[in-house]
This record gives sequence, structure tokens and C-alpha cells, in this order.
Amino acid sequence: MNSMQLLEPLQLGPLTLANRCVMAPLTRCRSKQPGNIPWQLNAQYYAQRSGAGLIVSEATQVCAQGQGYLWTPGMYTPDQMEGWRLVTDAVHAKGGRIHAQLWHVGRISHRSVQPDSQAPVSCGNSQSDSTCFAIDEKGHPGRVHCDQPRALASDEIPGVVAQFVHAARVAKQAGFDGVQVHGANGYLPDQFLSSVLNTRTDAWGGSVVNRSKFLMEVVRGVIGVWGADRVGVRLSPMGGFNTMGHDTQWREQHLEVARQFQREGVVYVDLINQGWSQGVEGFDEGFIRDYRTLYRGVVFLSGGFTLELAQQRLASRLCDAVVFGRPFIANPDLPERFRRGIPLTTGNPSTYHGGDERGYTDYAAAT
Ligand SMILES: Cc1cc2nc3c(=O)[nH]c(=O)nc-3n(C[C@H](O)[C@H](O)[C@H](O)COP(=O)(O)O)c2cc1C
Repeated sequence: MNSMQLLEPLQLGPLTLANRCVMAPLTRCRSKQPGNIPWQLNAQYYAQRSGAGLIVSEATQVCAQGQGYLWTPGMYTPDQMEGWRLVTDAVHAKGGRIHAQLWHVGRISHRSVQPDSQAPVSCGNSQSDSTCFAIDEKGHPGRVHCDQPRALASDEIPGVVAQFVHAARVAKQAGFDGVQVHGANGYLPDQFLSSVLNTRTDAWGGSVVNRSKFLMEVVRGVIGVWGADRVGVRLSPMGGFNTMGHDTQWREQHLEVARQFQREGVVYVDLINQGWSQGVEGFDEGFIRDYRTLYRGVVFLSGGFTLELAQQRLASRLCDAVVFGRPFIANPDLPERFRRGIPLTTGNPSTYHGGDERGYTDYAAAT
């Protein structure tokens, strides 16, 4: 087995990535307040990790209604754009590449982080049993149960698509190398894809094609801003995270979406296998192979990877690049550690979300 395959370059549309070790989008809840604005601390954090073949930014809400966690950075105001410019400049100065992840939480939210304390929105009105990070009953920041969402009216949905398109423009002005649509982990596009949650009877639900309409309208809109060769999508087929329940139609749903991605020329798809990282049942290799016959662009795989597993998946051509999340938190120079066989540092989950530079920019590179 070629131990360096993970460290070989990869062509991603117009970008030549230095290696196939991608930094996962990781929400760290450390934007400047008020205004959810990226700042110097965030720029330093990303620059430290610029040895990744590609960095995907933490999820960035495309509008105020798309937020479900305190202190996550936005991608819709001029100040946020200026803040992101600090990040992209710092990454580029060190030779790195960075895509922005565009996010709308849908029902995974709470009135305390919604504009005018309104109910969050979703494809339907089914409430999640999951928690988000907002203001609790005592007025303190903390984990709270998601509020009951309001189903979007049919004629409101193009406006939500337009918010993704606006955010894609802001990301372009901010100097990103491309964008990733967050279609995974039980957030709004994933809610629309689900036959459990999406019980709509209009054009946005009722069949595999209709359930993919919201995601595909977003993808087409974002491609209109960036061109398809700079647009990727993240998905979590069969994933139950954020209390999605068991969707018996997940396979045909995702294979339909794969066909449409091929048609639109989406440059990469990142498939998260929540099974591998959460010790539950996940999609099998046969699904990935079927996916790749329909969608012939670049495929990333995510979830619970070690170097050894990454090498296996690359060698068996299941994917073209491997995404690492938690390992990048505690090992800013992860690809270099892989190259030199340096043992990995383990991160501290208590500093994953929120706080200051501790557990954020103070993980040292190996010397
Ligand atoms: C602290 C933390 C924050 C995360 N934030 C995001 C996010 O903003 N967007 C996203 O798509 N996934 C997010 N994830 C999921 C990771 O991107 C990744 O898929 C997951 O951690 C599994 O990969 P790993 O086993 O390499 O960590 C997050 C995970 C963690 C641990």
C-alpha cells in the first residue's frame, strides 16, 4: 500500500490541492460579538491549518433565520464579509485553499437565537428532540431543546434559496476559493430530503425528485454565482444525527441527487458516514460504488477516519480525498504529522464549542 497516497495532489476543478487530506467543517462558536463576525483569532486558527489540501470553513449561517447556535459566524453582512477576508487572506498567505460552508439550520434552532424570537422554519412543523446552543430559561448560554418549527409556505421557499445565493456572493467577495453547500446532518436541505420530515404535498415534497428540489435549487443558484467547478456539497446519507429518524427511502433519494449533481457538474460531494464515527449502522461500500457510477466528480468521504482507514479507502478507489474533523482540532499540522509518522494529539471536547484561544489556537504544531 502506498503510504503517501493521502499526500498526493488532487485536481478539484481549477484548484490543484496539495494533498488529499481535507479539513472538515468544524463549528467552534468563536466569532466576534455582536454581529457573529469572524476576526483575527479565527484567521490565526485557520492559517495554522493551511497545510490541509483543502480547508472547509466551519458552517456559516446564510441569514439570521438560518442560525441555531450562539456565536457561529454569518455570511450575509458587510462586516462578516470583511471578517472572512481576514481568514481567507491568512490562509492564502500560507499557500492554503479554503471553501466556505453555507448553512441553514432549519428546525435545529431556538426562538432565543431567531430574529424577533420567531419560530424557526422547516419543510414541515415536526419538532426535533435534539438540542441546539442558545439562551436557556435562566437567560444563560447553554444547550436547549429545539423549538417547534413553522412550515415554510410554498411561495416563501424561493426567498430562502435566494439567501443561500446571497451568501455565496458574500463568500466570493470575501476571497474564498469556492463554497460547500451544507446538505448534511439534519439541517434544512437534509430536512427537505427526508421522507420522514418532508410530508409536503406541493412541488417541494411528495417524491424523491420533489424532495431534492430545495437542495438542487440552492445548488443551481450557488453555481450561478461561482460556476460548478467551485461548488461542492456535503451530505450524510442514512444519517440520523439531529433526530432525523430512519428514512427508508434514503438510498433512492441520494442516488437521485447523485444523478442531478452529475447533470449540474458539481465539482465534489462529501459523503459523511455517521456510522463510522458514531458506532451505529452506516451506508456500505456498495452504496458508494453505486453513487460513483451516477456521479463521476470528485468524492470525499468523512467520519471517523484514521490514517490507516484513509489509505485503505483511497487505495480501493472508494474516494479521491479523505476528510478529517476532530484530528484537525488538536493537530493543526495533521498532513505533516502523517508524512513524518508523528503521533497525534487528542483534543479536549470541552473546548470544542465556544471560549477563547484555549483549545483553539494553542495546539502546537510538532517540531
Ligand atoms: C466540534 C465539531 C463541530 C462540527 N461542526 C460541523 C460543521 O460546522 N459542519 C459540518 O458539516 N459538520 C460539522 N461537524 C462534523 C465534522 O465535520 C465531521 O464530519 C465529524 O466530526 C466526523 O469526522 P471526524 O471523525 O474526523 O471528527 C462537527 C464536528 C465536531 C466534532
